[in-house]
Amino acid sequence: MKTCLVLLLSVAVLAQPQPDDPRTRWFREDKFGLFIHWGPYSVIGRHEWARQFFQIPQAEYDVFARQFNPVNFQPDEWVSLAKNAGAKYIVLTSKHHDGFAIWKSKVSDYDIEITPYRNDPFGQLAEAARKQGMRFGFYHSIMDWHHPDYRPRRPWEYPGDGEQEKSPTNPSNLRYIAFMKEQLRELLTNYGDIAVVWFDGEWEHTLRDNRMDDDVYDFIRKIQPNTLINDRLYERKPGNRADFGTPEQYVPATGIRSPDGKPVLWEACVTINESSWGYNRYETEFKTDRDLIRMLVEVVSKGGNLLLNVGPTPDGRIQQEFVTRLQAMGQWMKVNSDSIYGTTASPFEKLPFFGRATVKRDRLFLHVFQWPRNGRLRVPGLKNQVKSAGILADQKVRLTVNREGEDVLIQLPSTAPDEIASVIELKLDGPPQVGPYVIHPESDGSIELGIESAEIDTRFEQRAKKENFLGHVFLTRWTRTDDVPYWNFSLPKGGRYRAEIVYASAMGEPQKLTVEAGGKSYELTAPSTGGEFVFRPAKDVIELDLPAGEQSLRVKPAAALSRFSFEKVRLIPLP
Ligand code: GLC
Repeated sequence: MKTCLVLLLSVAVLAQPQPDDPRTRWFREDKFGLFIHWGPYSVIGRHEWARQFFQIPQAEYDVFARQFNPVNFQPDEWVSLAKNAGAKYIVLTSKHHDGFAIWKSKVSDYDIEITPYRNDPFGQLAEAARKQGMRFGFYHSIMDWHHPDYRPRRPWEYPGDGEQEKSPTNPSNLRYIAFMKEQLRELLTNYGDIAVVWFDGEWEHTLRDNRMDDDVYDFIRKIQPNTLINDRLYERKPGNRADFGTPEQYVPATGIRSPDGKPVLWEACVTINESSWGYNRYETEFKTDRDLIRMLVEVVSKGGNLLLNVGPTPDGRIQQEFVTRLQAMGQWMKVNSDSIYGTTASPFEKLPFFGRATVKRDRLFLHVFQWPRNGRLRVPGLKNQVKSAGILADQKVRLTVNREGEDVLIQLPSTAPDEIASVIELKLDGPPQVGPYVIHPESDGSIELGIESAEIDTRFEQRAKKENFLGHVFLTRWTRTDDVPYWNFSLPKGGRYRAEIVYASAMGEPQKLTVEAGGKSYELTAPSTGGEFVFRPAKDVIELDLPAGEQSLRVKPAAALSRFSFEKVRLIPLP
């Protein structure tokens, strides 16, 4: 009985932070941060995992580490770049998996002091951030490829390590954790307020298996009671004591919820380039300005934050590809940031147009990515009275608003004020009240499920994205079968439907797609349409049995697709 009580109590004490915790307030309001990965791997210039990817022995890696010499590092410029982009906080790597400390660490010889650089880059950036009113936090890897006590060691480097040696509960890990805490103590005591401690490399379970995760958590809290701690101190699961979740390289389809269904704080961390966090001079793919602006909007509309990454060069510069994109985000934010900072998630389950929504008390912001061709924007199931409607980019313009059944229709000017994302602002009579999403059949009774209103079920390394061009809104870069567009919708009438896929394909071979609906799955083939943007309804149609009411329709490719654009599914009721 007594143990039971103690257990219950400790569960209550360890419970995850409440969504309205004043400690997390800045995080909920600021929405946008800059992530910086910087260390000896930048010298190699081919991904921060270079030591592992190329199996570089420690002694050889140290040659690169000793060359780290950021003579062109201008901390004030980095901070200004972040600030002008609209970011409100910075998270810098203190120590990545390679174990190298980018500050002067008294408890390690593997730090900035082995380089020719005479300063402390960590302290310099912390100081510059403080001067410009930016919050500052750090990333810290639990996994450590350098520390002699850390286990497991890399098998390619220590092939002789027995199972016991590799075990995360090997007692030497306790020495390692004691060391890690001393390094954390330095970072948490010598550099002022730390906004975030952003752990990583938790998947080897060093802390969990040694039952040290709560210990480290409490240790940090004691030094800096207000700092936020990400979920990688623990297992990455909602429901632990972490302040926020960290989906990596993807935007979760519907935000993140705790096991009891309540929204939790989260922050998507994403690289501007294809997949390197540390400087990679061989990366040639970069997200476009519009990808990044729309991603920020999408993340915020789902209740999250965006932590966007740059990997500076070893001499301390941020490459032009990153700079121009951050500047473009800043241009957009200068006009539209009122629809980002301090907002809460979209009240809509789904929107009939390609865009997103955010809310600030009784103000509703609609981010329109594809300007409607008929000049009308449909706001589905909005119950409030609309007091006024305008355009954030042009305060003089007043828009006409009409009601059509449950929906509100906004009359738009003929051209979009912003080709990437135009923001319409509605002032309501109170916080938005929204009814269920009702699909409006076309005049012939058919129902269109367009990509604009689909979500993408996805995970780490998301590739598929929505795009629009010449009036088409479509899914592109569908190069992973794990990226699955789906629609949750309510069907007014059950029965048999003919389903037609509208797509464009330049793929020589016919592609196989699976449609899952009404508890069954159906296969169809999609031959080339003659081009990546030549949209045609598939000749191969399938007949679906769909019940009336709530349901979900998902479309999966059998294999990775390239030069393939997926636009919509049309459901035609059969007599
Ligand atoms: C991954 C990688 C790491 C990167 C981190 C950022 O876990 O191991 O290199 O720093 O993601 O989220």
